[in-house]
Amino acid sequence: MQVFHTISGLRNSLSGHRIQGKTIGFVPTMGNLHDGHLALIKQARQSNDIVVCSIFVNALQFGLNEDWDKYPRTYDSDCEKLHSIGCDYLFFPDDKEMYPNGLDTQSRVICPTMTDVLCGASRPGHFEGVTTVVSKLFNIVQPDEAIFGIKDYQQLAVIRRMAEDLCMPVKISSAPIHRETDGLAMSSRNSYITPEERPKVTVLKQVLEHIALQIDAGGQDFATLESEAKAVIKNQGFKADYVTISNSKTLQSATIDDLEITVLGAIFTQSARLIDNISLRKK
Ligand code: PAJ
Repeated sequence: MQVFHTISGLRNSLSGHRIQGKTIGFVPTMGNLHDGHLALIKQARQSNDIVVCSIFVNALQFGLNEDWDKYPRTYDSDCEKLHSIGCDYLFFPDDKEMYPNGLDTQSRVICPTMTDVLCGASRPGHFEGVTTVVSKLFNIVQPDEAIFGIKDYQQLAVIRRMAEDLCMPVKISSAPIHRETDGLAMSSRNSYITPEERPKVTVLKQVLEHIALQIDAGGQDFATLESEAKAVIKNQGFKADYVTISNSKTLQSATIDDLEITVLGAIFTQSARLIDNISLRKK
């Protein structure tokens, strides 16, 4: 695997492949790679000639009181993992390479409405940071396909919408949620969970699944389902940020007529914020 720290170095290498008609699959990450990330790389490998991964802990998508400085940075083990599964190129820029003019005056990409709800409501500016950096990365790598995890459902939906709205010539693909054996969705932030909290955090997946089952069985009182789920989360000692039954495409609150539904949730533990979701198609 070749590692590039500069945009020009990566572009030079990739342009040779592009001229030969090779397809490029791309997986953007913030590093601290786990099996969920690696599954995305393997998926990119299956459908493309060349696979590029990026690792960049993007300050623009972190709020002032968030964990940018303590976000786990594990470059050496990330490289070993990427190498072992046959990733061709790693793009590992520093802040100066990505934001040479600084963060404050950086041009931004904004995807309205969809980013005001759910995680966007409690993390103002987060998705603007994501869409901006992903646009930059798309312009740098110019991939044929980019793969994102369903684990970050809202992020995937926002990026799909951005690519559609801005006519970006890239296919956005999704990959299923990779979970620990007890069902907890894998995340770099799981390392913040304390040993006492760890057995209980599966409550998030459990309440989302319960809601999905109720809707599948004909449940229509979405507000009650949401508030009951929040009460169960509270009983386990966690604070629910949101539990919301949404239209899978628009991410606005679902109505009983919606057929494609996604139930999304976020909880605060003592020092982690965890998210999960489940989608269903109403009969
Ligand atoms: P990061 O959290 O590192 O995630 C990188 C990619 O891995 C995202 O597409 C995410 O949805 C996917 N992923 C993470 N955990 C997963 C799991 N358990 N199962 C399946 N896929 C999983 O998401 C970001 O980085 C950043 O916001 C980024 C898109 C790189 C922009 O900075």
